[in-house]
Amino acid sequence: MELLRSIEVIIREAGQIMLSAHLGRSDIIEKTGHQNFVTEYDKKVQTFLEEKLHEIHPSAHFYAEEDEEHSEDILSYGDVFVIDPIDGTSNFMKGYYPSCISIGMLRGGKPYLGVIYVPQSDDLFSAVTGNGATRNGVRIHSSTLPLSENLAVFGTAPYYSTELRDEAYRTARYYQEKCIDMRRSGSAAYDLCMVACGAIGLYSEPLIQLWDYCAGSLIAEEAGAAVTDFTGGPLDYRNASSVIAAGEGISKEPYLPV
Ligand code: IPD
Ligand code: CA
Ligand code: CA
Repeated sequence: MELLRSIEVIIREAGQIMLSAHLGRSDIIEKTGHQNFVTEYDKKVQTFLEEKLHEIHPSAHFYAEEDEEHSEDILSYGDVFVIDPIDGTSNFMKGYYPSCISIGMLRGGKPYLGVIYVPQSDDLFSAVTGNGATRNGVRIHSSTLPLSENLAVFGTAPYYSTELRDEAYRTARYYQEKCIDMRRSGSAAYDLCMVACGAIGLYSEPLIQLWDYCAGSLIAEEAGAAVTDFTGGPLDYRNASSVIAAGEGISKEPYLPV
């Protein structure tokens, strides 16, 4: 598919911006309060993506993390690129892995395609609705094993909500007893790709933003994983949401925390 191929070329180029980064203290800005950062490179990558994606798809709208404002009104109409220029910013600014670039596209409010690039490992994950998911061009599938034979990963939820943080750790504790061991990567988009390729059996986080999950949840679903919110319902692709993604083998088990 031509659009997907063009996005893959663009996201790889954007990855070079991340790889060439030399971060000084002045390149790091605290957004709204402690634990919420943006770097000059988040902005550079976003500007680059918006420019290049506009060239290949002039009528598409943009909904990107580092925009000043986020209007949900545009999400239901036509094609909308949903972008997280760097997912895993705190990893990126500390030189810890992973971090990645995430480009989702909604068509008429529904997930249509997703592309995620991890520049440090040169890993490219892609999916188009109904066509399966790939890693570097090779078809991928989520784990067919039960949770007891899988690793699981959890996200710690936003810094501003103690209640959600407690829920994140409660949920992780619940899964810890049921799987081989728990992991925390620092990038929700990467976690969803790891579920998609079967390296991780299950991912959970009580709240992430649309740009965190838009591409990754489609990639995981197209790889056969079940992706829901914490109530077991579908993601709405309009708002921030809780997310559980479980491989094929696990989605048949009762895996929601009690
Ligand atoms: C964060 C990462 C992290 C998740 C946070 C997100 P950012 O995105 O995806 O894994 O736990 O909720 O905000 O800020 O690095 O783009
Ligand atoms: Ca993010
Ligand atoms: Ca980000």
